[in-house]
Amino acid sequence: MDKITISVIKADIGGYVGHSSMHPNILTKAMQSLDKHKDKGTIVDFHVSHCGDDLELILTHRLGEESGEIHKMAWDIFVECTELAKKLKLYGAGQDLLSDAFSGNIKGMGPGCAEMTFEERRSEPVIVFAADKTSPGAWNMPLYKMFADPFNTIGLVIDPSMHGGFIFDVLDIFENKTVKLNSPEDIYDLLCLIGASEHYILKGIYKKSGEIAAATSTQKVNLMAGRYVGKDDPVMIIRCQSGFPAVGEVLEPFALSYLVAGWMRGSHWGPFMPVSVDDANPTRFDGPPRVIALGFQITNGTLIGPRDMFADVSYDLARKQANEIANYIRRHGPFEPHRLPLSDMEYTTLPQVLEKLKGRFK
Ligand code: F6R
Ligand code: MG
Ligand code: MG
Repeated sequence: MDKITISVIKADIGGYVGHSSMHPNILTKAMQSLDKHKDKGTIVDFHVSHCGDDLELILTHRLGEESGEIHKMAWDIFVECTELAKKLKLYGAGQDLLSDAFSGNIKGMGPGCAEMTFEERRSEPVIVFAADKTSPGAWNMPLYKMFADPFNTIGLVIDPSMHGGFIFDVLDIFENKTVKLNSPEDIYDLLCLIGASEHYILKGIYKKSGEIAAATSTQKVNLMAGRYVGKDDPVMIIRCQSGFPAVGEVLEPFALSYLVAGWMRGSHWGPFMPVSVDDANPTRFDGPPRVIALGFQITNGTLIGPRDMFADVSYDLARKQANEIANYIRRHGPFEPHRLPLSDMEYTTLPQVLEKLKGRFK
């Protein structure tokens, strides 16, 4: 059987209300367009979702990664949806579409994209994660836990098919270079890099045989555009079970509401809250940052699902913890470490303030 590719392509094409959520008509429009592409046979299957103000297109097809045809299709859907968003005067309509024309590959044009290609196993459980009000570095810690930490993933210790460990592909977003590190051999070097999650981002994880296990979106909108034009709210795809972490091992890291960068104006640290799709509408101080998990069985390319994996009472405590952390950290107001360091903020008035105060510094 031909290999299958799963592409998760996302963009913020306009928020409802403010940056908090997505208008239902936008979701319907994207579904209608994708239905036509499915009928034509360009894609095998699709699912449309949203996390906060981000439109998520989950696609399966036989055209491989970085396919111009698939990327153009997604781009055109974002453009159509932007037109509707403009008609409805939704907030920030088209904010992630950095260019007026498509140029062959959606990467570098504003939208985020995670893709992987594999031969379907006898059964192929996959989880697609999507986040809002944060950045791709938010995946570093959970990925490390899933694929390298035996306190999270007991399979690394007791499952012979995982005992050999995994290969981590790390991207330096400032140098645009990658380095492959092995676990468990290189874990101290790995942590030295990915602990700086606004600098080094996990791009992909492989089995030692080279088989793909996880893929993330690594586009940093603010860096690409050279100025802040929108959030780089990330997505990722993880294969589960039979030699990969079990579904429960993949979800386990989110039982801790850890801190991520990107809350209010992309300039604050805040607790990451795992929620159902119905609760993926960040409101308080434009947050707290949210993450959803959509589970699918991929069957001959068809997306059987999704199961809304965080719509589960076992994540109630993580959500409570997130609300408690939110209360605590909000009281720091404009002070670090709630506010991001000067170098990482997406909004700043510092140059103007320094210019104004020039004569008053003694
Ligand atoms: C956007 C976001 C929001 C905005 C904030 C200000 O994803 O995180 O917190 O940064 O609402 O938005 P503007 O500058 O559009 O008024
Ligand atoms: Mg927005
Ligand atoms: Mg967003």
